[in-house]
Amino acid sequence: MAYKTLIVEIEDHVGLIRLNRPDALNALNSQLIGELAKCLTEMGANDKVRAIVVTGSDKAFAAGADIKEMSEKSFVDVFAGDMFTDDHDTIVRCRKPIIAAVAGYALGGGCELAMMCDFIIAADTAKFGQPEINLGVVAGLGGTQRLTRFVGKSKAMDMHLTGRFMDAEEAERSGLVSRVVPAKKLMDEAMDAARKIAEKSAISTMVVKEAVNRSYETTLTEGILFERRVFYSLFATEDQKEGMGAFLEKREPQFRDK
Ligand code: HXC
Repeated sequence: MAYKTLIVEIEDHVGLIRLNRPDALNALNSQLIGELAKCLTEMGANDKVRAIVVTGSDKAFAAGADIKEMSEKSFVDVFAGDMFTDDHDTIVRCRKPIIAAVAGYALGGGCELAMMCDFIIAADTAKFGQPEINLGVVAGLGGTQRLTRFVGKSKAMDMHLTGRFMDAEEAERSGLVSRVVPAKKLMDEAMDAARKIAEKSAISTMVVKEAVNRSYETTLTEGILFERRVFYSLFATEDQKEGMGAFLEKREPQFRDK
């Protein structure tokens, strides 16, 4: 499918999605969010895709939801229209691993989109923020909940209440991003990570996503029980025999997602 606001490639079993509204610093309008949800659904169903990278431009991953589009909307428009809800749910339901590769601004909905991905690799130019307070609103795509879980209450309050930006170094120190790399190396690093994931058993990568995400939703005891159950269940797969057999035979495993 052709997209107006995304540039999409599939290479080495990695789906690369580049947000592409350069005139608006990749602001997330309803078309872009809708296309992204569709694209992730398609990649979810495409056997050629085993891992996904979402990125923006050098200047902006995304500078937030589109303020022009939102500015004239009424409460009834956004409430009755349930703005972004279906697309948010579609994005977070994707069962394949998604890496956000962030350079430049990841603000408001842009920061929230990065946090919806499974992990974030940041360029040293990245700037994260939840500046909705400056617009007379608050985060609406999960930012008050997810940022708090990533960086803790004090820093999340600071970010949401002051609207200040966090640079890449602070983002790594606070646990928002998994690694920071020089801007020039961002895409190589993100694609390498995605290619590495694409080599694993897709059953195991899906289980990792489910189990780690479960830690947000449940108690430690229930989460550990869930993990143990899925750990045991992987012994029913051919990939477990292949992975452990390959280790003992001192060779690379050939996973078949079975
Ligand atoms: C629409 C945007 C935009 C946005 C930038 N642009 N951010 N358009 N929505 N969120 C447009 C500008 O209007 C401008 O268009 C062009 O992109 C370049 O932006 P500049 O401001 O000229 O660039 P610069 O001076 O470098 O400043 C960069 C910036 C600033 C610091 C990122 O653009 C900025 O503060 N943007 C808004 C960030 C923000 O408040 N995000 C939160 C949005 S609310 P023209 O046509 O003038 O060239 C949100 C809620 C999510 O995300 C919840 C949804 C449910």
